[in-house]
Amino acid sequence: MLLCHALSKPKTYLYTHPEDELSELAWIHYGRYLYERLQGKPTQYITKTQEFYNRAFRVSPAVLIPRPETEHIIEVALDRARYAQRTVDIGAGSGAIAITWQLETGCKETFATDISTAAIEVARSNSRALGATVQFAAMDLASALPNQAFDLVLSNPPYIPEPEGQTLQREVRDWEPPVALFGGPTGVEIYERLIADASRILKPGGWLIMEIGYQAQSRVTALLEGWQQIEVTADLAGWPRVVSARKPDS
Ligand SMILES: C[S@@+](CC[C@H](N)C(=O)[O-])C[C@H]1O[C@@H](n2cnc3c(N)ncnc32)[C@H](O)[C@@H]1O
Repeated sequence: MLLCHALSKPKTYLYTHPEDELSELAWIHYGRYLYERLQGKPTQYITKTQEFYNRAFRVSPAVLIPRPETEHIIEVALDRARYAQRTVDIGAGSGAIAITWQLETGCKETFATDISTAAIEVARSNSRALGATVQFAAMDLASALPNQAFDLVLSNPPYIPEPEGQTLQREVRDWEPPVALFGGPTGVEIYERLIADASRILKPGGWLIMEIGYQAQSRVTALLEGWQQIEVTADLAGWPRVVSARKPDS
C-alpha cells in the first residue's frame, strides 16, 4: 500500500509492471512512508485515506480512522429508520457515518456534530468531496440542537475505558485522537449524557442507534430504561456492537 501510495498507482500496477525501476523521487517518498510506518504511524494516516461503506474518506490524525465494524450502524439504521426525514450523527469524526447515511438514503436533512473543530473540518471536506450535503456544527454532543427535532440519532461515541489506554495497540494509543477514544473511567459515562441528549432531541417514536464497546452491552442497555424496541446487533466477530432503541410515542 505504501509503495502504491509513493507511485500514485493502484495495486494492480505493481503486478503488471514488475520490471519498472523506482524513480529517485518515488524512493524518497517510499522511504519516508516506511520510516513513518516503523514509528507506528497507522498506514491510513500515511496514505490519508480509509474506505468506509465502499467510499474513500480522507483521514488525518485529527480524526479516528473509521472501522469496518461501524458499518453495522448504517445497516441497522437502514433496517429500522431508512425513511427518517431528519438525522443527526453525534461525534462525526471523519464524517463516515453521516455522509454514508446521507448518500445511501438521500436524507436531505442530515446533520453532524463533533466537539473537535479539527474533525469537523475533515468531515466537511469529505462531505464536499463525496458529493454529500451534510451540515456540520461543533458542539458538546447535541447540546446546541433543538428539542424533538430529529427522527434518527446515530452515534459512535468514544467508549474505551480510560484505564485501558496503556493496553491499546501503539498505532491507536500514540496516534489516534484521545478525544475520539476515551469515554470516561468505565467508558460508559458518555452514554449517560448521549442517551439523555438523544431523548431530548428525538421526536416521539424516533430511533437512537449507537455503537458500543465490547463488554458494555448490559451497562448501556440499562441506561435505556423507558425506551422501546431495544435491540443489540452483533458484529461479524460475534461481539455486541450496535444498540438500537426507539423513543416512546408519547
Ligand atoms: C469513536 S470517534 C467516531 C468517529 C466517527 N463517527 C466514526 O465512526 O469513525 C468519536 C468522535 O466523537 C467526538 N467526540 C468526543 N467527545 C465528544 C463530545 N462530548 N461531543 C461531541 N463529539 C465528541 C470525537 O471528537 C470523535 O470524533
